[in-house]
Amino acid sequence: MENNKAIQVNDGIYWVGFGDPKAGFSNNPYLLIEGDSVVLFDPGSRLPEHFNIVKQKIESVIPIEKINYIVVHHQDPDLAASIPLFEDIIGVDNFEIISTLRTSLLLPYYGFRTEITTIEDGDILQLDNGRELMFITSPYLHFAGAHVSYDMKTKTLFSSDIFAAFSVDWHLYANENYIEAMRIFHEPYIAHKSAIESFANKIKDFEIKMICPQHGSIIKEEFIPKCVEALLNFEVGSWLI
Ligand SMILES: [Fe+2]
Ligand SMILES: [Fe+2]
Repeated sequence: MENNKAIQVNDGIYWVGFGDPKAGFSNNPYLLIEGDSVVLFDPGSRLPEHFNIVKQKIESVIPIEKINYIVVHHQDPDLAASIPLFEDIIGVDNFEIISTLRTSLLLPYYGFRTEITTIEDGDILQLDNGRELMFITSPYLHFAGAHVSYDMKTKTLFSSDIFAAFSVDWHLYANENYIEAMRIFHEPYIAHKSAIESFANKIKDFEIKMICPQHGSIIKEEFIPKCVEALLNFEVGSWLI
């Protein structure tokens, strides 16, 4: 499933993830490099067998110390627990941690000391060379304070747990089996259709050429309409009685 090298998936964007067969999914941190701006999205687990893979993959393209921003789309341990380990390398307050306010209240429980920069819906982070990242809140998908990020240069959506999937038949890029893998992830995990509809409505005018979820596979442009349609039709809230 992986070697020790980052895989470039778009202009300046690298997949630095790993598979977790026990949990049944891959965890997908992504690295974005634009000039001297280095962004790490959803850095991942703190277990040595996971963290060492991510660390090695990042180091295959850039020293860890060069990371300026760690964007955390919500507070779950599969994407946020390694922040203190990155802080040990980069140094306290030598980088910015970016999340929403609701997420920022829980993140410090992992035990880091760097200040968190909180964002609101529609906020833009300016990177080198005029590259811009937009942050879009995605309430209740699946955390009340969740958000996603949109790279305006490549039109890539870093969607966190939205469009995520279990590793039924894992490939780096989604194939026709991906809809079913997405379905079994979303139906028990998302409580209500209205959260999906509200998010879909919010992003309907965005041109999206690639979706990079935190579990599962990267969705290329031609497959996005099918995945959006499927997402809108999933019978979510399946554990409710
Ligand atoms: Fe999550
Ligand atoms: Fe997750």
